[in-house]
Amino acid sequence: MTPVPDTDLAVAASGLVKTFDDFRAVDGIDLEVRRGEVFGVLGPNGAGKTTTLKMLATLLPMDGGEASIFGVDVRRHPHMIRQLVGVTGQYASVDENLTGSENLWLFGRLQGLSSARAKVIAKDLLERFGLAEARDKQIKTFSGGMRRRLDLAASLISQPPLIFLDEPTTGLDPRTRGQMWETIRELIRDGSTVLLTTQYLDEADQLADRIAVIDRGIKVAEGTPDELKTSVGSSTLQLRMSDPDETVGAADVVRRVLGEAPVLTPEAGGMNAALTDANQAADVLIALRQSGLSIASATVQKPTLDEVFMAITGHSAEDETHEPQMEASR
Ligand SMILES: Nc1ncnc2c1ncn2[C@@H]1O[C@H](COP(=O)(O)OP(=O)(O)OP(=O)(O)O)[C@@H](O)[C@H]1O
Ligand SMILES: [Mg+2]
Repeated sequence: MTPVPDTDLAVAASGLVKTFDDFRAVDGIDLEVRRGEVFGVLGPNGAGKTTTLKMLATLLPMDGGEASIFGVDVRRHPHMIRQLVGVTGQYASVDENLTGSENLWLFGRLQGLSSARAKVIAKDLLERFGLAEARDKQIKTFSGGMRRRLDLAASLISQPPLIFLDEPTTGLDPRTRGQMWETIRELIRDGSTVLLTTQYLDEADQLADRIAVIDRGIKVAEGTPDELKTSVGSSTLQLRMSDPDETVGAADVVRRVLGEAPVLTPEAGGMNAALTDANQAADVLIALRQSGLSIASATVQKPTLDEVFMAITGHSAEDETHEPQMEASR
């Protein structure tokens, strides 16, 4: 593993700026990622996530601000930075006719490993990422999930202390997404520091210790997943009573417990109640049972990314004026 200078901050960046012509894609972002944590950068399409990562990884020049990785200045020591950071999103440049193990071996050689060492590490990584059977299969036959895992494996060849994951699960089906989350959790257990971007609150929630929300090139909020969710208010309890005739009585019980009346939904017997704390759902359910009212279904809905965005920025995450121009930037 690359020797890591002694500092508690894996990333320290202040006032990062990137402009494309007149457009400020990143407009003064500060980021601090602590050693050993998973830090999530959450934002909609075109928010500036990939551009931020690319500047930190020396793949794009910075137009303003300061940044260091484990205390090493990004502008002044790009070669050292490249040894400290593993970046996903590299497989695209690799020959599709190579097999999984050839691909990783090649990456190892490009990173300066001996042929024998590259072989050993490639084998280990393929096993670790559930790709052992795919070792001798050509990459062009890989599924989307396998490609992401191979991509992640390639970024780990040089065993970097900091890993950048740019939207690791966008476009994956739910099962493959879950597997990818497991893989990422394993990395974390191994002590890696991870800087991850995502468009999904649930993903940031599942994986990140702390999150920065960015919107149109600006950081609009930062905190733990819980702090963010609390700041936007809360979750919603969706209830449906078995007997629609009991709806009014049930709404009354809900109002008594929560101090605020639920909103009745068009569906027979249905209502939504805002919770300041998801644990209040239990209080409501107990009170309904004690009142002899029977529930057909009850779900607690966490705030969605869109609700977080609405609350923090006053506009919807969908409502972006700048369309992303670089699909390949993921
Ligand atoms: N090379 C470029 N030239 C011109 N504009 C660019 C370039 N790269 C990015 N942009 C613009 O900068 C903005 C931020 O792009 P970026 O790729 O960083 O967003 P993102 O948050 O990663 O979005 P996504 O979730 O879609 O990946 C977008 O409006 C994008 O169109
Ligand atoms: Mg992106």
